[in-house]
Amino acid sequence: MSLELLAAGAFLASTLAVWFWYAHKAQRLSRQIEEATKRASESDRQRDSIQEELFRRLYEQRELDRQKMQFQAQLSEYEKYASLAQLALGAAHEINNPLLGILSHLELELKNCEDPADRIEVEQCIAGAKRISSTLRGLLNYARPSPPLLSKINLARLVVDTIGFLENQPILRGKVLENQVPADLPSVRADANQLSQVLMNLLLNAAEATPAGGRITVSAAKLSLVESIEIRVSDTGSGIPAEVLPHVFEPFFTTKLGRGTGLGLSISCAYMRSHGGDMRVDSVVGRGTTVTLTLPLRTEELTEQEREDSQIVV
Ligand SMILES: Nc1ncnc2c1ncn2[C@@H]1O[C@H](COP(=O)(O)OP(=O)(O)OP(=O)(O)O)[C@@H](O)[C@H]1O
Ligand SMILES: [Mg+2]
Repeated sequence: MSLELLAAGAFLASTLAVWFWYAHKAQRLSRQIEEATKRASESDRQRDSIQEELFRRLYEQRELDRQKMQFQAQLSEYEKYASLAQLALGAAHEINNPLLGILSHLELELKNCEDPADRIEVEQCIAGAKRISSTLRGLLNYARPSPPLLSKINLARLVVDTIGFLENQPILRGKVLENQVPADLPSVRADANQLSQVLMNLLLNAAEATPAGGRITVSAAKLSLVESIEIRVSDTGSGIPAEVLPHVFEPFFTTKLGRGTGLGLSISCAYMRSHGGDMRVDSVVGRGTTVTLTLPLRTEELTEQEREDSQIVV
């Protein structure tokens, strides 16, 4: 009996051992299947993201091709305009030269002319020829602003000198022209002639827009964060309507039909940019306009001698 029990126990033990062995193997297998499934889904995910990336790149490539074609079309359009502009500038130059000859003949004619009616006619011809000549010069200046001839400039002095030119002009009669530029501003390196022309254009615009009793102010300050100077020309004039404002820097844009050439601001802006500076217009209709110029100080370009020199060079 005990032998049978022993045999049954041994059989049970060996069956259990086999069962454990299979169970363990099955567990390992299912772990391996689980890992393989995980790897398969990971590689599916990678494949999907590579596909997505491929589609994105293809789309980008197509977009780049489209932009390239657009730029090429624009470029050929610009090239066409550039050659037209070149032609127009050549014509402007060629017209201006004989025009100056005609002008000097007319001035001579005026000197020898005694009849008052004839004098009026010659004077009208001279005025017309001067107007054409100044428009052509403006066009040439705008298209090819001469590189600035830099010298050390005392801005306060330059403003005083420029205002001095204009002070007695009839356009300023009855209007207050105030110079608030501090005398101790640091010197700037700039083209005195160009800067003076810019100020002159701004002051004339301000004077033309401001009625008698109005005020025109020139002020300037060194900016605290950048090595630049800001110059402001403000007026209490008519202001610029919102629909006009975006156009004021366009060459030949003018609201002074028959009086203005529309080149004042565009040339001034070209001059400021060739100095590495800029120009901004803020305006409120009925309250006035402020034009802000920024001009880099270029102190690093001042020579040691200039730095020591406290004399004004304009
Ligand atoms: N201070 C200002 N107040 C009001 N409008 C202004 C002022 N400055 C400029 N504008 C507007 O901007 C336009 C363009 O000015 P810009 O100086 O370029 O030409 P213009 O004065 O018309 O002619 P010009 O060539 O004789 O200077 C002016 O016609 C005017 O409408
Ligand atoms: Mg003007």
